[in-house]
Amino acid sequence: MPHSQTSVIVVGAAGNIGGPVTKHLLATNQFRVSALTRTTSKSTFPEGVTAVRTDYTPESLIESFRGQDIVISTLSTSSLGDEMAIAKAAVEAGVKRFLPAELGMDTSTELCLKISPCVFLKQDIIKYLKEHEDKISWTGVFCGLWIDFSLKTPDWPHWSLKDRTFTTFNDGNVPFETSTLDTAARAIVGTILPEHIESTKNQYIHVHSAVYTPNQLFGYLKKYTNTTDADWKIKHVDVGDMAARGQKAFGEEASSGQPPEVFTKSDKFQGAIGDMIVAGLMGNGGVNQFGEKTGYRMGKFGIEEGDAEGIVREVVVGA
Ligand SMILES: NC(=O)c1ccc[n+]([C@@H]2O[C@H](COP(=O)([O-])OP(=O)(O)OC[C@H]3O[C@@H](n4cnc5c(N)ncnc54)[C@H](OP(=O)(O)O)[C@@H]3O)[C@@H](O)[C@H]2O)c1
Repeated sequence: MPHSQTSVIVVGAAGNIGGPVTKHLLATNQFRVSALTRTTSKSTFPEGVTAVRTDYTPESLIESFRGQDIVISTLSTSSLGDEMAIAKAAVEAGVKRFLPAELGMDTSTELCLKISPCVFLKQDIIKYLKEHEDKISWTGVFCGLWIDFSLKTPDWPHWSLKDRTFTTFNDGNVPFETSTLDTAARAIVGTILPEHIESTKNQYIHVHSAVYTPNQLFGYLKKYTNTTDADWKIKHVDVGDMAARGQKAFGEEASSGQPPEVFTKSDKFQGAIGDMIVAGLMGNGGVNQFGEKTGYRMGKFGIEEGDAEGIVREVVVGA
């Protein structure tokens, strides 16, 4: 049993990133770990995790968060419209630290809001938390594209090992930040360890495993699949065009008169999010290029810089 009585509840603990986060929380042996899960959910959780069921009404969320010290949100992209209710309930219940579901490009700037207006969903959470810093603190983790996930999941439409498809964004030479799910999860947990919790208060943290250009990534994929261009269906996408398509659809949905928790769930809005976020992740506006911002924290958390080629090799050939 953990000695420390710090209580952490993960929203979406069985999800793509919630799973690794929960695993690393348990591995520290320093937290009491709970999972907030929908009453209708079929999610299952590892031994040692207490499931807390909610119907996402404000009362139920507040009740779920009572006695919790830290809330880590890893809510699915499709339900980010519900995150404000979660943040408000956390404040109401007396939670001390909130980690919103950032977990991608740097959404903190006006430029990011301009090129990807859907990030209002993320910026509004931070704005709300800043307004309540007398009651709660927050940490936002930016980790770039989940590289291993993007190579393995059918949910990522822009490259597929199985179908041998690859999208080259712009001229293929714009660098983009990536993290493996494991690195991202370790960084998230790192921010709330007793030795880091004060120094990570009320700020954004940038981490990564490796930086690629599309051409470098494609080169590694061809090398470890022993293929050439001729074996792949290659698509070329301009990130500016992609973002513009997303912005147009976003504008139509956002002006529908529905509140965010409703219009953000439409298929059209989800498509718009996909276009705007992928454009940002793949170079639009430079919001997924962290430069010097990564190194300091990575070292503090004991996370080594990843090996760009080795990450791809491990996904493709498993070693
Ligand atoms: N950097 C990247 O490449 C990248 C990629 C994808 C996502 N992200 C970010 O990471 C966050 C987490 O994404 P993820 O892919 O890990 O999430 P996910 O696995 O799709 O979903 C996480 C959990 O959200 C909960 N949930 C609550 N309401 C839901 C609803 N209406 N529909 C579906 N699930 C719902 C579910 O938990 P229960 O069933 O237990 O309730 C689910 O297991 C996203 O918000 C996004 O910001 C980043």
